[in-house]
Parts: sequence; C-alpha cells; structure tokens
Amino acid sequence: MTPAARIDAAIGILDAILAGQPAEPALLGWARASRFAGSGDRAAIRDLVFEALRRRDSLAALGGGLSGRGLMIGLLRLRGEDPDEVFTGQRHAPPPLLAEERAAGASPEAADALSDLPDWIWPDWQASLGPDARTAAEAMRSRAPVWLRVNPRRATPDEVRAELTRDGIETEATPDLPTALRVVAGERRIAGSTAYREGKVELQDLSPQLACAALPLQAGARVLDYCAGGGGKSLALAARAEIALTAHDAAPARMADLPARAVRAGVEIAIASQGQLGRDYDLVVVDVPCSGSGTWRRTPDAKWRLDPAGLDRLIRTQAGILREVAPMVRPGGHLAYMTCSLLAQENAGQIADFMRENAGFSQEFERKWLAPQGSDGFYLSLLRRIGPH
Ligand SMILES: C[S@@+](CC[C@H](N)C(=O)[O-])C[C@H]1O[C@@H](n2cnc3c(N)ncnc32)[C@H](O)[C@@H]1O
Repeated sequence: MTPAARIDAAIGILDAILAGQPAEPALLGWARASRFAGSGDRAAIRDLVFEALRRRDSLAALGGGLSGRGLMIGLLRLRGEDPDEVFTGQRHAPPPLLAEERAAGASPEAADALSDLPDWIWPDWQASLGPDARTAAEAMRSRAPVWLRVNPRRATPDEVRAELTRDGIETEATPDLPTALRVVAGERRIAGSTAYREGKVELQDLSPQLACAALPLQAGARVLDYCAGGGGKSLALAARAEIALTAHDAAPARMADLPARAVRAGVEIAIASQGQLGRDYDLVVVDVPCSGSGTWRRTPDAKWRLDPAGLDRLIRTQAGILREVAPMVRPGGHLAYMTCSLLAQENAGQIADFMRENAGFSQEFERKWLAPQGSDGFYLSLLRRIGPH
C-alpha cells in the first residue's frame, strides 16, 4: 500500500472508532476485510490510528474537525507535511482537501497537552499529580517504550540480551532493575524470537516489574494473585522465588493462556475459582481493574471512552475487591494493592477509605510511578495485616 492509501485506511478506522467502536476490533475488522494488506501495512496503519488517538483533540483542531479526515490532516500538519500532497484522490489516496479543511489550523491552546485529555478529568488529574500534571499529560501523547522482563529461571539478562541481538532485537539494561530490558530496536520481532518462545523473556512494562520486585516474598510463601487476568504479575512473582502461587480472576477466561505461559516460563501456578481460595495467605496481590490512566499512551482510545460514571463504577469495584480479600490475608501477612492509574481516588484515596474501615491493616509503603520516568504510570500500596481475623 502507498503511504496515502494507508492514510485513507486509517481515516476509515478512525471514523469507526469515533462512532463508538473500540480501537482493537476496529483495526481487526479492517484487517479481515483487507486481505491485500501485508503485515507492514497493518503495523503502519495501527501506528497512524494510535498516534491520532493519543493527540485526538489537538489534531482535530489542527486538521479542522473531529473526524478521521480531520485527524489525519492534523497529523500531517503536525509532522510538517503538506496534506495536499497526500489527499490527491488518486490511486487509493483520500479525496482532495475541501477549502475549509485547507483553511483550518490550530488555535494556540490546541497545541497544549491538556487538550488531549478529556476535559472532565483535568481537575482530578491536576489534584492527583500536582506539579507533574502537565508533564504526565504530555507523556501520554507519545508512543510508550517497550520493556521486557527477563525470567531468571531460564537465563541471565546478559544471555538474553545476546540471544535477542542474534534475532535482531536491541535492548538496553536499566540501573533500576537488573531483570528489566528496554527494547530500542526490533520490537516487532519479539514474538518470533527464540528468547520469547523459550520463556526467557515476557513483555512487561518497567513499573509493574518494579512493583512486583518490591513485594516481600519468602520461599514457600502462599501467595494469591486475586485479579490475575493474563497473569503478568503471577509470572513475575513466581519467577522470583519458590512460592505456592494461586491465580484467580472473576473472569476466568482471561487466564486461559496462563497455564501454557507458566510451562513456558518454568514456574508452577495453580488456577482457582472463588470457592477454592481459602484463607491465610502470606501475600494477596490485587491488581485491580482501573481507569488505566497511567497507560493511556498504550491504549489511547480508553482515555476517550472513560466517563465519570465509568470511573465511579471502577472505584466501587476496587473497594469491593479490597473488602473481599482482606479476610484472606493471614495475621502478619501482606496485601498488595496495584493499579495502572495516576488518579488519587483510585490509589491513595482508595487505600485511605479501606484503612478507615479496616483498622487491622497498616500501610508499610506506597509507590507511584509516572509515565515520564520511562515506564507507564503505576501505583502500589503494600499493607500489612496487624490484627487477628
Ligand atoms: C488490571 S487487570 C489484571 C491484569 C493482570 N494482573 C496482569 O498482570 O496481566 C484486572 C483484572 O481484574 C479482574 N476483576 C474484575 N473484578 C474482579 C473481582 N471482583 N474479583 C476478581 N477479579 C476481578 C478482571 O477480570 C481483570 O482481569
């Protein structure tokens, strides 16, 4: 496909997303209906769509309207390219610019990162992030880095780096964590690489890796990952020490791939339903459903789909999960609360509410990671059960 044809495809997909379809199904639907497109085309179109969604409102101002066309015209202008050269109407290129599209341009405030956050979230965003609010908003407008977690059960970081290099993937170590590698080139080759297929690395952002590394884990500990989902945290914890780890999720289908991933990683993870959970865990991890506001640069359509009622529902769900798991922690054991959100009401506010109702817990520490620090926004609060059942 020509660059102009890719832009034309992105316009159609963006129109479907603006009409309410989530991004992933919209991209998948287009790919299924467009068998002529190769993997390079699909990847390039995906990049265009995600870039447009990250900067949705400022691009709409630059391009003259909140539509697929407006966003693509805005993106070309942002890149310093002339939309007239792409919008030619010839050979699968989008139809030529209308006079009003040619005349449109950004207002000064549209260039501000804050215009690419939903208006209603700004007061909460600012209250949560204080002096970091603007840089955190700006970080959400760029592509996220890709991080790998080295599985120490399978290889050392140096072995993994050499093996990845042989497969055309370049990585950088970080002083923050020896088992974390930042991918600097070849990220699209990861899924096919030997290191990945042999369970030596998993894709995982830096901040959840740091959060898992900060948890207290003794050999033999009974650990429950109560919101296991795909199992990213379970795998990271099981790789750290010989523990008895149980994974659970209210939607068990989300854990469907976890047994195979555990085998690949050389760790044991038991899958349990609600009735099989029992009590007296040394550590219960709750990586709760959240707004995902710390990861909006990875899932930019989520930022535009969230509304105040949805955020309230999430906050109630989080409180309910904390209530459910509190009795499962043994006296002296730990409860780790995690979100990939930057909003205080999902993080410190949620923990403050929990502590008011549960005098038997004390907080050992909390940590916040912000997107500008190279990883996604993430929050961890580690609580200890000081009281009896
Ligand atoms: C943020 S995701 C977890 C991601 C996962 N820990 C990982 O690292 O890949 C939150 C998960 O919580 C689950 N969930 C939602 N409500 C729940 C509840 N009441 N009890 C347990 N799990 C719940 C969701 O199905 C979802 O898989």
